[in-house]
Amino acid sequence: MTVMTWSDETYALGVDRMDDTHREFVELVNACDSAADKAAFVAAFKALLAHTEQHFAFEDSLMQQTAFSSAEEHIGEHRKVLAEMAQFLKRAGGPMSAFAREYVRARLPEWFGIHASTMDSALAFHLKGTADAEALAALYASADAASGITAKGADATSATA
Ligand SMILES: [Fe+2]
Ligand SMILES: [Fe+2]
Repeated sequence: MTVMTWSDETYALGVDRMDDTHREFVELVNACDSAADKAAFVAAFKALLAHTEQHFAFEDSLMQQTAFSSAEEHIGEHRKVLAEMAQFLKRAGGPMSAFAREYVRARLPEWFGIHASTMDSALAFHLKGTADAEALAALYASADAASGITAKGADATSATA
């Protein structure tokens, strides 16, 4: 089932690297929701958490490199959500699995909608205003290294079903 539907009007921030990552996030949330059984759900949730760790580490690095004024608050929010996801992932394979599924299908998408339109939107605005193309490429390369992302862009065709 589809619990989140990407639309540019709702989610796009105009910074391709952030938008690509957010599109992947939406796909991975949907993959969790369509998991047929507990084992499939746990695997999908693990993939979502791993992706989110990189997603947040990438943004954290961009904020740290550019002395973004709301960095502390934004990084703290990332940390809080990762801890929450890890807690629910622990329950995902056991008798509390329904709570974990509910978290991924309702609370997490709701959180993301707010986060993208507030904190991530502010970061995107900051990036658009403070760096030329060359400086941005250097920022991204450094953020990729910090977040463990390698060879980004090769799989961009998998964005739509
Ligand atoms: Fe983000
Ligand atoms: Fe963020």
